[in-house]
Amino acid sequence: MQPTTKQHSQTVKAQLTEFSIRRPDDWHLHLRDGAALDHVVGATAKQFHRAIVMPNLKPPVTTTDMAVAYRDRILTAVKKSNAGSFEPLMVLYLTGATTPAEIEKAAKSGVVKAVKLYPAGATTNSEAGVSDLLGQCSDALEAMQKHDLPLLVHGEVTDSDVDVFDREAVFIDRVMKPLRARFPGLRVVFEHITTKQAAEFVRDEVTRDSSGRLLLGATLTPQHLLYNRNSLFNGGLQPHWYCLPILKREEHRVALLEAAVSGLPQFFLGTDSAPHAKHLKEMACGCAGCYSAPYAMEMYAEAFELAGALDTPEKLELFASLNGPAFYGLAPNEGRITLRRQSQTIPANLPFLTDSGIVPFRAGEELAWSMVDSD
Ligand code: NCD
Ligand code: ZN
Repeated sequence: MQPTTKQHSQTVKAQLTEFSIRRPDDWHLHLRDGAALDHVVGATAKQFHRAIVMPNLKPPVTTTDMAVAYRDRILTAVKKSNAGSFEPLMVLYLTGATTPAEIEKAAKSGVVKAVKLYPAGATTNSEAGVSDLLGQCSDALEAMQKHDLPLLVHGEVTDSDVDVFDREAVFIDRVMKPLRARFPGLRVVFEHITTKQAAEFVRDEVTRDSSGRLLLGATLTPQHLLYNRNSLFNGGLQPHWYCLPILKREEHRVALLEAAVSGLPQFFLGTDSAPHAKHLKEMACGCAGCYSAPYAMEMYAEAFELAGALDTPEKLELFASLNGPAFYGLAPNEGRITLRRQSQTIPANLPFLTDSGIVPFRAGEELAWSMVDSD
């Protein structure tokens, strides 16, 4: 029997076997420091040209001078890794002691591109963070608004009486809305969003500055696009699926994937790749964070394909390579990357600090896509 027109068009629609897009950037990344940095920076530099580098070191990167010194250490590590060109975009860690003068210095440095809010106690190395944003940081926020330095937000309340799965949604009402009402000209990125509520909030709250640039954006990780919270307990406790904010229900994953593939300019790529040694993940009180950097673009391609959004690579290019630079007021990269439908298996372990190594996110699994070229 001949297929109907509709069936026919589905049958002949060629499955993409290879595509190239402008070289992407990672708008939320943990690189750590010292020997750990040496181990992980090459993986990111192979995939991305730039990355927004998180400041939650010990001690945290709270000043421009510290950010400049950290950037130098990253560039030295990149050189050692032979991974090619990579540009780290630095971030200050916001504390109750961050002064308007420090913000002005950061904005004028050209090196610091944003300031990060860690609610105290929310995640790894957040002890020095902020417990009352508007109460403690109004002067710094005012200065950020004035000097157009974006605030990157880990959007979770930390109250022990709020269920861990609800902390992001509660944050929107308790912190995000009052923040945006008080500083309407402040550029804000809702980092690693994990809920339908956050996706809808960022989709619907479209405000722009006088030059037409968006004032609110959001980053999305591969794990939150591909998995729901069942993965944390799949046949037993799965520490390598544990990150913060934690994976949520399926309805949230679906909403996040819809946002990522929408092409809307407020949604862009941020892996939140967060390396922790194997023995620190696989322990009684394991660390939060998924080390996704080495196969990040392959995973995003898989997510877009799953959503039926990879017939052509345009939507992925918007998400990975165009929306982020536009939000930050930067030019997109000139280089390109090529992904091919060529399966590869993620190694069980990679070298990292001690003999225990590091377990990459989805270790041992097969990926449909491989990055075959990057310039
Ligand atoms: C991050 C880390 O390990 O630094 N962990 C994580 O689960 N995402 C911190 C963070 O971004 O919350
Ligand atoms: Zn992070």
